[in-house]
Amino acid sequence: MMNQLNINGLIAKLPIVQGGMGIGVSLSGLASAVANQGGIGVISAVAIGMTDPDYKNNLRESNIIALRKEIQKAKKLSDGVIGVNIMMAVTDFENLLNVALEEKIDIVFVGAGLPIGSIFEKFKNSTTKFVPIVSSARAAKLIFQHWSDKFSRIPDGVVIEGPLAGGHLGYAKNDVIHPANNLQTLIKIINDTLPVLHEFEIQYNREIPIIAGGGVYSGGDIYDIFNAGAKGVQMGTRFITTTECDVSEAFKYQFINSNEDSITIIDSPVGLPGRVISNDFVKEIQAGNQKPIKCSWKCLSKCDYKKVQFCVAEALLNATKGDFSRGFAFSGMNGYKATEIISVKETMEQIKQEFERFDVRR
Ligand SMILES: Cc1cc2nc3c(=O)[nH]c(=O)nc-3n(C[C@H](O)[C@H](O)[C@H](O)COP(=O)(O)O)c2cc1C
Repeated sequence: MMNQLNINGLIAKLPIVQGGMGIGVSLSGLASAVANQGGIGVISAVAIGMTDPDYKNNLRESNIIALRKEIQKAKKLSDGVIGVNIMMAVTDFENLLNVALEEKIDIVFVGAGLPIGSIFEKFKNSTTKFVPIVSSARAAKLIFQHWSDKFSRIPDGVVIEGPLAGGHLGYAKNDVIHPANNLQTLIKIINDTLPVLHEFEIQYNREIPIIAGGGVYSGGDIYDIFNAGAKGVQMGTRFITTTECDVSEAFKYQFINSNEDSITIIDSPVGLPGRVISNDFVKEIQAGNQKPIKCSWKCLSKCDYKKVQFCVAEALLNATKGDFSRGFAFSGMNGYKATEIISVKETMEQIKQEFERFDVRR
């Protein structure tokens, strides 16, 4: 049986964190369904206002309104643990963080950048837990040391995201373009990170749970990750083909209709490689064809809209709505394994059974 996940006193009955998925893929629907099953349901804050028809007038304002609305909706739908995922790479990071803290969200996950600097002092007077998402033991050490030196406290846990994950990846393109489809790299990073965290565990006299993700798809994968020393897993792709996932059916069928060769890598204007399901639009991007774009706001700090090939926010929004002529779906390495759309409850039951089978076999 899987143990509960304890993140500095915040308890999830199931040690499964549903990874935040933008744009509009994980909103209150998916997050509350996962939380109702005992996992941690996570709303992705990135460009969340684009789900509002009026977003073009003022995206920043729409983001604030939409994030607040989705948090409140999720809390009405579930008494379980709800989190918000915010990418450091967005220019309105602080606005989104303020909303999450004002709404007293249970937990904030921050990836796509190093969460250091005075802005994080806000967590001092808050009950909201803070968990950074990293891709290496070195990044974990840097963040924990910074927090310890500057704030005399440390993050409540850490998510380690391996190179098989969906979406933006904190690795060099060469390291993600043809990785072996196994969890060995992720397991190595867990092994490297455990001693780093152990020093802080002694200093602060509490456990710092590692939550590991990226290519974790089955209960058997979870078993291997727990054996390596992680206390929880983060899973994104597996939850996309659920009834409650907040995207269009067409988006979900991209996964069901894909095969192993469909999963590929593109360069994203975020400044990171991204793992996606291939289509003609993706092939044009990979061929280097220019696609001049307009930009009414600057949503990403690193995006030079005059130079990039495409607007990643528009492409993701198109896909979310089901338009793949100018869009694509982010996917983890195992996205092609989806065969049907089932409820989150059924998905969790399957995962638990898969885990038990492994647990007994070993
Ligand atoms: C469609 C999609 C959108 C994603 N969006 C975000 C995001 O907004 N912020 C983030 O930190 N990670 C994002 N991710 C990464 C997931 O949160 C998760 O860590 C990752 O998908 C785990 O790998 P898996 O998909 O193989 O389970 C996204 C992944 C997918 C597939």
